[in-house]
Amino acid sequence: MTLTLSARSGRAATANTPLLACLMSAGQPLPAALKELDKSLGGVIKRTLDRREFRGGRDEVFHVTGGKRGPRRIILVGMGAAANRVTALRRGAAIAARYAHRSGVGSMTVLAAGWNSSEIEQAAIGAQHGAWEYTAMKTPPSESDMRAPLTELTLLVDDTKSAEGPVRAAVALGEGYALARTLANMPGNICTPDLLADTARDLGRRHQMKVTVLGRKEMEKERMGSFLCVAQGTPEDPKLVAMEYRKGPKNQAPIVLVGKGLCFDTGGISIKPAERMEFMKFDMCGAAGVVGAMEAIARMGLPINVVGVFGATTNMPSGTAVKPGDIVRASSGKTIEIINTDAEGRLVLADVLHWVKRFSPAAVIDAATLTGACVVALGHTTTGAFGNDDTLVAEVVAASRRASEPAWQLPLFDEYKELIRSVVADIKNTGGRAAGAITAAAFLNEFVDYPWVHLDVAGTAYTEADLGTIPVGGTGVPVGTFVEFVRGRVS
Ligand code: BES
Ligand code: MN
Ligand code: ZN
Repeated sequence: MTLTLSARSGRAATANTPLLACLMSAGQPLPAALKELDKSLGGVIKRTLDRREFRGGRDEVFHVTGGKRGPRRIILVGMGAAANRVTALRRGAAIAARYAHRSGVGSMTVLAAGWNSSEIEQAAIGAQHGAWEYTAMKTPPSESDMRAPLTELTLLVDDTKSAEGPVRAAVALGEGYALARTLANMPGNICTPDLLADTARDLGRRHQMKVTVLGRKEMEKERMGSFLCVAQGTPEDPKLVAMEYRKGPKNQAPIVLVGKGLCFDTGGISIKPAERMEFMKFDMCGAAGVVGAMEAIARMGLPINVVGVFGATTNMPSGTAVKPGDIVRASSGKTIEIINTDAEGRLVLADVLHWVKRFSPAAVIDAATLTGACVVALGHTTTGAFGNDDTLVAEVVAASRRASEPAWQLPLFDEYKELIRSVVADIKNTGGRAAGAITAAAFLNEFVDYPWVHLDVAGTAYTEADLGTIPVGGTGVPVGTFVEFVRGRVS
């Protein structure tokens, strides 16, 4: 089920739609575009506003039944007094679309009179978010209990022509988000490294991208002892996947996006507690973000070179699993003492980050659900950003803002390196309790020699609670950040 988005111009009063949504800021008076409709309804909307029965507070929804002609129902959706209008519009549109999706109207119209391109794009992105749901694993309800999903959304704009571009961009991004969320929400027994690799191959076929897949054998040839020690406890074949999108100048150095793809993280021999372990199916959200971003970038047809890469495996305890105290050698030649087998993401990324040197990247951004410590530091609303080039970090943080996926820089001072020094090997894979998100980033830093940013999305890539706009599960973060960064490099 997908949402078909379009824009058209016309009057709200005569819109033939089962549901018209009007997004309003806190205390906003009756919008001019609603005056005619309001009059035909005997002034009920104006009275509602005058009596302050609807105040435009964030996520507030007020329902008005329509008249004989025009919209069958009208909802007023509050956006509050948010300073960031773009984020507010995105959220308001998501709330509106979710309301429509749940009420079974099938199609809806959103009043977009007076909006500029970026406002139209943001609302269109939000609407797709709101109508999205992961139902693949549920038996469909019986015919009589079935409610029509929201499949059609029309933006009522001033000028159809100028709305086309933003709607097209929003649809491309929405498809990328949807793919990332779907992959994220799939359970670990379905979303395997093989499935992720097949998804990448399918993307390659649809968008003429070269896709390279390395399995255990090929990784052994590359001497990826760090990645492979994580995969040695599972019978599933690990996969290192690269998708090459080359629509830029031939000799332009590519942007490389890298994702952590742990299809399930039990912790391995350093096993995690049982409680809430099921959420570790989301430990592949970095990889899902890369795949989703590549989908969006390809649909947008951006004239630039981008390579999407992820490392996928499953972290399992078993007779063959890596143990604390073991020492492995990464493909870069560095030796690593395994202190905790649950710090597996950095081990996978060590070899992947070394491997992507072959692309001579202009910049590499990796995304990983890397540490619980990052969730402690920044919570569920902010992604942790680290890097070896402060200008590049600032560029990524700015992109995250434009995408309404805020990231915040944490320091990577040289002093943190001391914390991962090993007595018996070159480095160890954990640095103790202090600064856990930073020592993880410092570990990755040992394997890069190009401009690089690391995004720790452990707190932001999925949600354990319904967010009002996003149901429990994958949020799609950092698809928007990746895409905005790449778009920023185009223009
Ligand atoms: N995948 C986890 C990090 C994580 C935790 C993601 C919570 C999402 C929510 C990662 O592999 C991990 O287990 N990290 C350890 C590192 C520790 C052993 C140094 C952690 O954060 O506890
Ligand atoms: Mn782990
Ligand atoms: Zn993990």
